[in-house]
Amino acid sequence: MSLKTSCLSLALLLMTSCSAEKRHALSAPALSQTPICESYADYFKVGAALNVGTVDGTDSIGREIVKRHFNSIVAENCMKSEVIHPAENVYDWTDADKFVKFGNDNKMFTVGHCLIWHSQLAPWFCVDENGNNVTPDVLRKRMKDHIYTIMRRYKGKVQAWDVVNEAILDDGSYRDSKFFQILGEEYIPLAFQYAHEADPDAQLIINDYSMPNKGKRDTYVRIVNDMKKRGLRVDAIGMQGHNGMDYPDFDEFEKSIEAFASTGCDVMVTELDFTVLPTVTKTASVETNVAYEKEMNPYPDGLTPEVDRQWNDRMAQFMRLLMKHSDKISRVNFWGVKDADSWRNDWPMKGRKDYPLAIDRNLSVKPFIETSLRK
Ligand code: XIL
Repeated sequence: MSLKTSCLSLALLLMTSCSAEKRHALSAPALSQTPICESYADYFKVGAALNVGTVDGTDSIGREIVKRHFNSIVAENCMKSEVIHPAENVYDWTDADKFVKFGNDNKMFTVGHCLIWHSQLAPWFCVDENGNNVTPDVLRKRMKDHIYTIMRRYKGKVQAWDVVNEAILDDGSYRDSKFFQILGEEYIPLAFQYAHEADPDAQLIINDYSMPNKGKRDTYVRIVNDMKKRGLRVDAIGMQGHNGMDYPDFDEFEKSIEAFASTGCDVMVTELDFTVLPTVTKTASVETNVAYEKEMNPYPDGLTPEVDRQWNDRMAQFMRLLMKHSDKISRVNFWGVKDADSWRNDWPMKGRKDYPLAIDRNLSVKPFIETSLRK
């Protein structure tokens, strides 16, 4: 083959693969199905957590799906302190700016996640150059700079912020995070004070997982009521909702919705996904325990029709519970757009195939949505 012919073949090959990608993008079933946010328009906003590939179009189909199906978005990783504030006085806005622009261009309720969190925490944030915890004064200043700088940059562009994330343990006690070690319980009210000062118009959320647990429920009701008594603003309580086939107990979930609403706050389901996979009991690494890996990853080629039906029934039941309380719940946010991208494929064990979200691996909207809306 001459050089000219091989260049021509290469060009042709590239052209065909580009148009194949386009054809695929245009033919995703979700792109002609009823928008999920329209289905629930009488009840609450419906959102999804986005990674940067969805925003910048690396995942072009994901981006089109988001535009069609969701009226709210949350930053899955790009606003966490280790990404956005990697060193003192050094901010990296690259991905966060793209995320916010995408939300604003598409008129979506755009949510920042998250300002103060022990995990994915910038390594410098709470320690000095020797790795020792900083003094309360230093941490107060760092928290204030962090919250002011980020929230002010996006003032008027980000409508809500997860101000404090995962502060409480299941039994209702405070997590022994660095923030707690240095400032005690006061770090939470402080974060909300700074957030209010930085952007009085943004909705301020306190967010955590396992919110149906009585311990967490009682502590959050107390914390929020105490802050309100002190004249501090907290607008919403976020129930993450990383759920499974046998947890949580929906009656307990309902009790928490009611208890949280009794504080005067909005309630939000902020990180919804329902894993269909068995609970991981051992901390075995996939490579060293093949049999265990198989047992923990039972649907590598797709769900059986029976399990698919059970999962959809459970989701429909859960959505009905949320719809019943739509006077208290203003937003329901899925933690991801489609099954293939969910963090649950790699957590709490790497390399499994999970089916936890509203859009399946064939890019179709799942049936639970329609079922949940049937009278
Ligand atoms: C997860 C992301 O989805 C993953 O991509 C990342 O590797 C780890 O964090 N609670 C939260 C979220 O508040 O920020 C977490 O997101 C999931 C648990």
